[in-house]
Amino acid sequence: MKKYLAVINGRKITTEKCVAIVSPITLKPYGEVSSLTKKDIDTAFTTARSQFAMWSTLTLDARIAYLDKWKEQMVANAAEIVELITYEVGKTKKDAQAELDRTIEYIDETFTEARKITANIIGPDVTGIKNKTGHFFRVPKGVGVSISPFNYPINLAMSKIIPALVTGNTIVFKPATNGSLLGAFLGELTMGILPDGVFNVVTGRGSEIGDEIITNREIDFVSFTGSTRIGKRILDICPSKDVVLELGGKDPAIIVDATNLDYVADQIVLGGLSYSGQRCTAIKSIITTDAIADQLAPILVQKIEALQVGSPLDGAFIGPLISEGAAQFVQTLIDDAINKGGKVLTGNKVIDNLVYPTLIDNVTNTMQLFDEEPFGPLLPIIRVKNIDEAVMIANHSQYGLQASLFGENETELFELAQKINTGSVNINAKSQRGPDIFPFIGVRNSGFGVQGIVDALYSTTRIKGIVVNKR
Ligand code: NAP
Ligand code: G3H
Repeated sequence: MKKYLAVINGRKITTEKCVAIVSPITLKPYGEVSSLTKKDIDTAFTTARSQFAMWSTLTLDARIAYLDKWKEQMVANAAEIVELITYEVGKTKKDAQAELDRTIEYIDETFTEARKITANIIGPDVTGIKNKTGHFFRVPKGVGVSISPFNYPINLAMSKIIPALVTGNTIVFKPATNGSLLGAFLGELTMGILPDGVFNVVTGRGSEIGDEIITNREIDFVSFTGSTRIGKRILDICPSKDVVLELGGKDPAIIVDATNLDYVADQIVLGGLSYSGQRCTAIKSIITTDAIADQLAPILVQKIEALQVGSPLDGAFIGPLISEGAAQFVQTLIDDAINKGGKVLTGNKVIDNLVYPTLIDNVTNTMQLFDEEPFGPLLPIIRVKNIDEAVMIANHSQYGLQASLFGENETELFELAQKINTGSVNINAKSQRGPDIFPFIGVRNSGFGVQGIVDALYSTTRIKGIVVNKR
């Protein structure tokens, strides 16, 4: 059994009560973390507040030097990090290593971009006008809260934490329950590396400690990635309204013509079903006309049935979902679609938390699957009269993260992309968050504010002016 503890003010916090972390691979306890109390959480915030003055007044180079040492610790402890990702959230070792590699790259690029912002924006920017000289600086906001989801336990954590720390903020970090062994381990790696209290990890179930965290009066800003339900709650109850939310998605793939359907099917399978569909940016509906759907569906069935289903330890492409509850939710969407006339082309088999990849044709707006996010390997085909109707469906979705357009004529696709109201539109490729230097945006129920390396540096800082007046 693994055991890692929350870290507050450079110290590990033991608690009487612990949270058991159940591995999706074995459905048995894999480890445990501290289950913090309100008092512990308050200490995390007061510590972060008290260290802000020291950390924010270090030079950027000094902060980068500290954070670079932490990054080196992550590299040196890659084997443990990969093992934790694999067992806590059910990724293959290859995917876990890829997530770590992407994170290391993210951290390095954040250092580079922070230096550019310093040169260009962190002042003083001086202008003499009407006897006034204005000095405008970009300054850290203060104490930030970073809350990450289970599905990218290091990458989506560090993509919040590193930009905030590099710009001089101090942080209270709440990892997802599945992902909190890793979160606590990352906290341990800071001990003796970062000044105490600059980075604090609080662990416990979100349903028990989430409100305690999010209503703390010390909070200056929040960066949250997770479900729309929890994101909205944070917006409602957090006293600071300075919040960046990256939430759920229902990314459509709209196939405009029948060009290279084999490639389109590959992109749909990779985009929709990798990590068993547990990605916000997974393709979550296929929208096209009857003629194209009739050609595409059999190609998809053939590719989906060739996928390896099983344990991530055997490198299976489709692995178990994060919990049995998650699998049951997917099953309810399948059952609802079948009851209302959906035609299962392949799949519809669930064993515990393992959901076989499922493709359902003739999905209509009477079915939950039409606009619900399954967060599992379930793909609906929605048949439309024409592409205008496809665009209308994309724009009427409760979500607006990304969309993909596939077709022959790039210029026409570019024009069509401008009519689609999502954060981003991908032309001739699956939807995805990266490259990480790109802004990552969600509209409607998919988010509020912008992520991405440069945008995170801006969202964790504000402009401050000091105006000197001639008497
Ligand atoms: P989740 O259930 O919303 O949990 C996200 C985080 O919020 C976890 O750390 C969770 O802790 C915490 N939390 C739970 N209740 C809370 C509360 N009352 N106050 C504060 N925090 C609370 O989401 P998930 O199941 O981990 O992730 C899947 C969802 O995230 C999907 O909807 C997916 O689309 C979305 N997502 C979006 C993006 C994006 O960038 N747009 C990226 C990844 C995932 P516990 O785990 O302890 O409950
Ligand atoms: O789950 C949501 C992530 O932000 C998706 O990232 O597109 O790189 O898989 P990704």
